[in-house]
Amino acid sequence: MTDLLPGLAGRTIVVTGAARGQGAAEALLLAGHGARVVATDIADDAPELSGPGVEYRRLDVTVEDEWRALAADLAREETPLRGLVNNAGITHRARLGDTERADWDRVIAVNTTGPMLGIRHLAPLMSVGSSIVNVGSSAALTAHYTAAYTTSKWALRGLTHVAANEYGPRGIRVNIVHPGFIETEMTATAPQAMRASQLELTPLERFGEAGEVAQVVAFLLSDAAAYVSGAEIPIDGAFTAVGGAKLLSDRIARELK
Ligand code: NAI
Repeated sequence: MTDLLPGLAGRTIVVTGAARGQGAAEALLLAGHGARVVATDIADDAPELSGPGVEYRRLDVTVEDEWRALAADLAREETPLRGLVNNAGITHRARLGDTERADWDRVIAVNTTGPMLGIRHLAPLMSVGSSIVNVGSSAALTAHYTAAYTTSKWALRGLTHVAANEYGPRGIRVNIVHPGFIETEMTATAPQAMRASQLELTPLERFGEAGEVAQVVAFLLSDAAAYVSGAEIPIDGAFTAVGGAKLLSDRIARELK
């Protein structure tokens, strides 16, 4: 039997971008810990999410009226909202010189403005002990070549720090996780050179799985992390911690052989 994380059972938690990938893994894991999950996405339905504890609702994170409607519905419920995972995200793999204004705006709208709207509309419903988790990226800790995506995730770090400061006095914790290369539909379209370099620069020498990100997100939502706020947690097999030094270390090891 899995040990339950404290404080998740019976809590209402909203997860965005939850129709597939990491969001779906998070929704299912949280429901497994007894939470009532409102899983949202732009997809028409989410067959991966069938099971007890998860209800699906269509919500485009860039549309403020949809956040407003969700907040109004949640406000009518008896159990207070205790968690939000700002997981929805899109990538745009282009270098700065090749980034068109429309693509830039679209990426910032989903990855940065979406979480801002979610926090603004849902935090007022949250009581002491609630937790918000933003899903950043190892791109937010590096100069990853994807200009719009990288910038949007760096901005999300700023939003996380501001929100942790502003909502801390109300007992609401706000943290951000930074996944490395995780096998999902998003990375299935990554160029071969990106996959190979990422692997070469990751000390654990493998890619991550959606479930491995979900475990850390669930921990941050639970009371086990009751004094963790404003934190940034890489989930990347030490990719960002070594900052490219693995390449140097591997080459030296080969030379010394
Ligand atoms: P994914 O592409 O499989 O899932 C993303 C989900 O977000 C999809 O279900 C999509 O429909 C939804 N979505 C897109 N635009 C939306 C919108 N406007 N409103 C609501 N939902 C929307 O990708 P994955 O890997 O599960 O990504 C989840 C999060 O993790 C994203 O924020 C991504 O940037 C981040 N991330 C992913 C990494 C990876 O290697 N897969 C690495 C680092 C961060």
